[in-house]
Amino acid sequence: MVKRKACVFISGTGTNLLSIIKNSRDYNFPANINLVITNNKNAGGINLAKKFSIPYKIIEKSKREFEKLAIKELRERKIELLCLAGFMRILTKSFIRNFKGRIINIHPSLLPKYKGLNTFERVLKKGDNITGCTVHLVNEKLDGGKAIVIKRVDVKKTDNIKKLKKKVQIEEYKAYQIAIRKIFSFN
Ligand code: GRF
Repeated sequence: MVKRKACVFISGTGTNLLSIIKNSRDYNFPANINLVITNNKNAGGINLAKKFSIPYKIIEKSKREFEKLAIKELRERKIELLCLAGFMRILTKSFIRNFKGRIINIHPSLLPKYKGLNTFERVLKKGDNITGCTVHLVNEKLDGGKAIVIKRVDVKKTDNIKKLKKKVQIEEYKAYQIAIRKIFSFN
Protein backbone atom coordinates (compact mmCIF):
# COMPACT_ATOMS: atom_id res chain seq x y z
CA MET A 1 0.00 0.00 0.00
CA VAL A 2 1.25 3.49 -0.83
CA LYS A 3 1.09 5.38 2.42
CA ARG A 4 -0.09 8.98 2.61
CA LYS A 5 2.13 11.58 4.21
CA ALA A 6 1.14 13.00 7.58
CA CYS A 7 2.65 15.51 9.98
CA VAL A 8 1.92 15.83 13.69
CA PHE A 9 2.04 19.18 15.53
CA ILE A 10 2.78 18.85 19.26
CA SER A 11 3.57 21.09 22.21
CA GLY A 12 3.97 18.58 25.03
CA THR A 13 4.45 14.98 26.10
CA GLY A 14 3.35 13.42 22.86
CA THR A 15 1.56 10.30 24.05
CA ASN A 16 -0.92 10.69 21.19
CA LEU A 17 2.01 11.11 18.83
CA LEU A 18 3.49 7.84 20.13
CA SER A 19 0.22 6.04 19.60
CA ILE A 20 -0.13 7.38 16.04
CA ILE A 21 3.47 6.41 15.23
CA LYS A 22 2.89 2.89 16.55
CA ASN A 23 -0.30 2.52 14.52
CA SER A 24 1.43 3.84 11.41
CA ARG A 25 3.84 0.92 11.56
CA ASP A 26 0.98 -1.38 10.67
CA TYR A 27 1.14 -2.37 7.01
CA ASN A 28 -2.54 -1.58 6.51
CA PHE A 29 -2.48 1.84 8.16
CA PRO A 30 -3.05 4.46 5.44
CA ALA A 31 -0.46 7.03 6.55
CA ASN A 32 3.12 7.45 7.68
CA ILE A 33 4.28 10.17 10.02
CA ASN A 34 6.83 11.96 7.89
CA LEU A 35 7.27 15.04 10.02
CA VAL A 36 6.79 16.30 13.58
CA ILE A 37 6.66 20.02 14.29
CA THR A 38 6.67 21.66 17.69
CA ASN A 39 6.53 25.21 18.99
CA ASN A 40 8.19 24.11 22.25
CA LYS A 41 11.79 23.01 22.45
CA ASN A 42 11.05 21.16 25.70
CA ALA A 43 8.22 19.07 24.25
CA GLY A 44 8.72 15.46 25.32
CA GLY A 45 7.42 14.32 21.95
CA ILE A 46 10.67 15.46 20.29
CA ASN A 47 12.41 12.46 21.83
CA LEU A 48 9.83 10.20 20.23
CA ALA A 49 10.53 11.70 16.81
CA LYS A 50 14.24 11.07 17.42
CA LYS A 51 13.63 7.53 18.65
CA PHE A 52 11.59 6.61 15.59
CA SER A 53 13.87 8.54 13.18
CA ILE A 54 11.11 10.89 12.09
CA PRO A 55 12.24 14.30 10.82
CA TYR A 56 11.27 17.03 13.26
CA LYS A 57 11.37 20.79 13.43
CA ILE A 58 11.41 22.96 16.52
CA ILE A 59 9.99 26.35 15.63
CA GLU A 60 9.97 28.59 18.69
CA LYS A 61 8.85 31.80 17.01
CA SER A 62 5.95 34.21 16.91
CA LYS A 63 2.72 32.77 15.54
CA ARG A 64 3.27 34.44 12.19
CA GLU A 65 6.83 33.16 11.80
CA PHE A 66 5.87 29.72 13.09
CA GLU A 67 3.14 29.34 10.52
CA LYS A 68 5.26 30.67 7.68
CA LEU A 69 8.03 28.17 8.39
CA ALA A 70 5.61 25.32 9.09
CA ILE A 71 3.79 25.86 5.77
CA LYS A 72 7.12 25.76 3.97
CA GLU A 73 7.99 22.42 5.61
CA LEU A 74 4.55 20.95 4.95
CA ARG A 75 4.72 21.91 1.28
CA GLU A 76 8.29 20.76 0.75
CA ARG A 77 7.48 17.37 2.22
CA LYS A 78 4.15 17.13 0.39
CA ILE A 79 2.25 16.51 3.62
CA GLU A 80 -1.36 15.49 2.97
CA LEU A 81 -2.72 15.39 6.52
CA LEU A 82 -1.88 17.51 9.54
CA CYS A 83 -2.70 16.00 12.93
CA LEU A 84 -2.78 18.30 15.95
CA ALA A 85 -2.02 16.31 19.09
CA GLY A 86 -1.67 18.43 22.18
CA PHE A 87 -0.67 21.43 20.09
CA MET A 88 -1.30 24.36 22.40
CA ARG A 89 -1.57 27.19 19.95
CA ILE A 90 -4.55 28.41 17.98
CA LEU A 91 -3.81 28.42 14.26
CA THR A 92 -4.69 31.48 12.23
CA LYS A 93 -7.60 31.50 9.80
CA SER A 94 -5.22 31.91 6.90
CA PHE A 95 -3.15 28.86 7.93
CA ILE A 96 -6.32 26.78 8.26
CA ARG A 97 -7.53 27.97 4.83
CA ASN A 98 -4.25 26.79 3.32
CA PHE A 99 -4.92 23.24 4.53
CA LYS A 100 -8.69 23.24 4.51
CA GLY A 101 -10.17 19.82 5.24
CA ARG A 102 -6.72 18.40 5.90
CA ILE A 103 -6.19 19.37 9.55
CA ILE A 104 -7.56 17.28 12.39
CA ASN A 105 -7.39 17.73 16.15
CA ILE A 106 -8.09 15.71 19.28
CA HIS A 107 -10.01 17.35 22.07
CA PRO A 108 -10.59 15.82 25.52
CA SER A 109 -14.35 16.28 25.73
CA LEU A 110 -17.53 15.36 23.94
CA LEU A 111 -17.66 18.38 21.65
CA PRO A 112 -19.43 20.76 21.41
CA LYS A 113 -19.31 20.53 25.22
CA TYR A 114 -16.28 21.94 27.00
CA LYS A 115 -14.37 23.63 24.22
CA GLY A 116 -11.05 25.13 25.28
CA LEU A 117 -8.91 24.24 28.29
CA ASN A 118 -9.35 22.44 31.65
CA THR A 119 -11.99 20.07 30.36
CA PHE A 120 -11.64 17.41 33.09
CA GLU A 121 -11.91 19.98 35.86
CA ARG A 122 -15.05 21.41 34.27
CA VAL A 123 -16.66 17.99 33.74
CA LEU A 124 -16.06 17.06 37.40
CA LYS A 125 -17.32 20.40 38.65
CA LYS A 126 -20.50 20.05 36.64
CA GLY A 127 -21.03 16.50 37.93
CA ASP A 128 -21.42 14.95 34.46
CA ASN A 129 -21.46 11.17 34.49
CA ILE A 130 -20.19 10.82 30.97
CA THR A 131 -17.39 12.49 29.05
CA GLY A 132 -14.88 11.45 26.42
CA CYS A 133 -12.88 12.74 23.51
CA THR A 134 -13.50 13.94 19.98
CA VAL A 135 -11.31 13.88 16.90
CA HIS A 136 -12.58 16.61 14.63
CA LEU A 137 -11.78 18.52 11.48
CA VAL A 138 -10.23 21.88 12.23
CA ASN A 139 -12.11 24.88 10.95
CA GLU A 140 -11.81 28.54 11.78
CA LYS A 141 -13.70 28.23 15.07
CA LEU A 142 -11.95 26.95 18.21
CA ASP A 143 -12.69 23.21 18.63
CA GLY A 144 -15.46 23.79 16.14
CA GLY A 145 -15.11 21.52 13.07
CA LYS A 146 -17.08 18.41 12.16
CA ALA A 147 -16.52 15.41 14.45
CA ILE A 148 -14.86 12.38 12.85
CA VAL A 149 -14.64 10.02 15.84
CA ILE A 150 -16.16 10.30 19.32
CA LYS A 151 -15.30 8.00 22.25
CA ARG A 152 -17.23 8.04 25.49
CA VAL A 153 -15.94 7.43 29.01
CA ASP A 154 -17.97 6.96 32.20
CA VAL A 155 -17.21 9.40 34.98
CA LYS A 156 -17.18 7.69 38.39
CA LYS A 157 -17.85 9.41 41.71
CA THR A 158 -14.30 8.46 42.76
CA ASP A 159 -12.66 10.07 39.70
CA ASN A 160 -10.35 13.03 40.06
CA ILE A 161 -8.67 15.03 37.29
CA LYS A 162 -5.73 12.62 37.08
CA LYS A 163 -7.87 9.47 36.93
CA LEU A 164 -10.27 10.95 34.41
CA LYS A 165 -7.48 12.20 32.18
CA LYS A 166 -5.91 8.75 32.15
CA LYS A 167 -9.20 7.08 31.16
CA VAL A 168 -9.91 9.65 28.44
CA GLN A 169 -6.41 9.43 27.03
CA ILE A 170 -6.71 5.66 26.58
CA GLU A 171 -9.74 6.39 24.40
CA GLU A 172 -7.90 9.21 22.60
CA TYR A 173 -5.29 6.77 21.33
CA LYS A 174 -8.02 4.56 19.87
CA ALA A 175 -9.97 7.50 18.47
CA TYR A 176 -7.04 9.12 16.68
CA GLN A 177 -6.02 6.09 14.70
CA ILE A 178 -9.62 5.35 13.71
CA ALA A 179 -9.99 8.96 12.55
CA ILE A 180 -6.90 8.78 10.32
CA ARG A 181 -8.12 5.51 8.78
CA LYS A 182 -11.52 7.10 8.18
CA ILE A 183 -10.11 10.26 6.59
CA PHE A 184 -8.22 8.29 4.00
CA SER A 185 -11.03 5.90 3.31
CA PHE A 186 -13.24 8.87 2.30
CA ASN A 187 -10.62 10.10 -0.18
C1 GRF B 1 -4.42 15.30 24.90
O1 GRF B 1 -5.09 14.86 26.03
C2 GRF B 1 -5.35 16.03 23.96
O2 GRF B 1 -6.68 15.72 24.17
C3 GRF B 1 -5.12 17.47 24.25
O3 GRF B 1 -3.80 17.57 24.68
C4 GRF B 1 -3.36 16.33 25.24
C5 GRF B 1 -2.04 16.01 24.67
O4 GRF B 1 -1.41 14.93 25.30
N1 GRF B 1 -5.46 18.25 23.10
P1 GRF B 1 -0.16 14.24 24.63
O5 GRF B 1 0.89 15.32 24.40
O6 GRF B 1 -0.58 13.60 23.35
O7 GRF B 1 0.31 13.25 25.66
